[in-house]
Order: sequence, then C-alpha cells, then structure tokens
Amino acid sequence: MSGELKIFDKEADLFAAAAATFVDAVRAVLAVRPQFTVALSGGSTPRAMFERLAAAPFRDEVEWRKIQWFWGDERSVPAEHPDSNYRMAAESLLSRVDVDWTKVHRMRGEADPLSDAADEYQRTLAQVCNAPLNGPPPSLDLVLLGMGNDGHTASLFPNTAALNEQGRWVVANEVPQQLTRRLTLTYPTLNAAGCVMFLAAGAGKARILREVRQGPHDPAKLPSQGINPTGGRLLWYVDRAAASQLE
Ligand code: 6PG
Repeated sequence: MSGELKIFDKEADLFAAAAATFVDAVRAVLAVRPQFTVALSGGSTPRAMFERLAAAPFRDEVEWRKIQWFWGDERSVPAEHPDSNYRMAAESLLSRVDVDWTKVHRMRGEADPLSDAADEYQRTLAQVCNAPLNGPPPSLDLVLLGMGNDGHTASLFPNTAALNEQGRWVVANEVPQQLTRRLTLTYPTLNAAGCVMFLAAGAGKARILREVRQGPHDPAKLPSQGINPTGGRLLWYVDRAAASQLE
C-alpha cells in the first residue's frame, strides 16, 4: 500500500507530530485560499490527537475561525450521545479553541431515515465547498482517519455496501457486524482529499497494519486499503508498537 509511513517511538510523539502536520496544512492552505476544510474521524486514536492539537503550542498556531469542520463518519445517534463522533470532537477539540460554530457541520446521526442525513450532508458539502451538487466530490484539504482492528476506516466496514458507492459523496451504510447503521463519506470523497492522514497506535493495531500495508490488496476485506488519494498526499502516522509487525 502506498503513502508516506512515519513511525514514532511513542504515542505522544505521534500525536504531537500529527498536530504539527495539521497546523502546517492549515497554514499552507490559508496562504492561498480563504478557508481550510477538514473531515474529522471518530475513535480513541484521533481523539488523542485532537486533545494534543487543542493544547499549547498548537492551539496558538491555528486560525481556527477560518476552518470548515466536517466529519468522515458518524454513528446513528444524536449529538449528545456518548458514541457520537461529533460529541467526541466537540469535547476534545472544538470547545477548547476559538472555532466559528457556524462552520461546524455535524452529520445528523439521529435522522430517520438516515439516508436523509446523507443527502443533507452532500448538499452541505456542495454549498460550503462551492462544488456542483451532482458533480465529482469536492477536494477537502485534510481528512483525518483512524483504522479499526478489522481494517475499517471512517464507517467503511468490510463487505458493506458503502464500499461500492462510486457516485454519492456520503451514504448511510448498513453495518451488520456492528448491528447498526452509520453515516460515512465514500471512497470518491475521501480519495479526492488534498491530504489523508491515518492515525494508528498501540500493539493491538500491529497485525491489521501489516495486513493493510503489506498484505494482499483486498479492500472489500480491508477497507483501509481503498484509501489512495488520487491527487493528494497519503500519510500514515503510527507508533513503534503498531509498526512492530511490519517488515
Ligand atoms: C468511528 C471511527 C472509526 C475509528 C477506527 C479507529 O466512528 O469509530 O470513525 O473509523 O477511527 O475504528 O478507532 P480507534 O483509534 O479507537 O482504534
């Protein structure tokens, strides 16, 4: 699998480096465009990076109010639910820095049917990113992703319908292995990003990281393998424990 792999001795070094990369990406984009667009991820690894980003020195190095905040995926729960990716990001980052809350675009996980929220989110992406609604997805400046122990990323889970979606930018995805439905950006949207940063830490990720990065290419089984930005950078930030089974 392609991409720039960076291995850090400790988790703390990984999170600091990922925060620094976020700061650099914002600075580079705002030097040439008026806004920065990012899609956040759920998960404990991304959460730790958000908390580091919300602390000094990084918190003082970002023009927070010029950022448009999106999500890569959301659980089928309301904003205040403990499982909400929105709630996690709001607690660990957005509430700790000076964001413009009118630029925080939550996926409405509580919608029923959930597909209504997917349609609404596609309209929001089109409007905020000034992209024609029925054209190719906009290029988000940065997409942050975690990777599950089953190789899923965002809410692209193994052998689920969303993996095959090539038209829509956002879908409601049935995830039978988790007995749930999730909202998720699709491969076309994720792979249109200017930069995708995977975060994986801990010995528990060692096996799956080896399979994803060095095993046979089979995105249906290992959805993280389907992430390959067509015109953007792919970064893998991992710690030594997660990298321990890589050749
Ligand atoms: C989610 C995330 C998911 C997550 C991975 C990694 O909604 O759960 O979007 O894709 O990033 O499962 O999570 P950990 O970093 O906690 O292992």
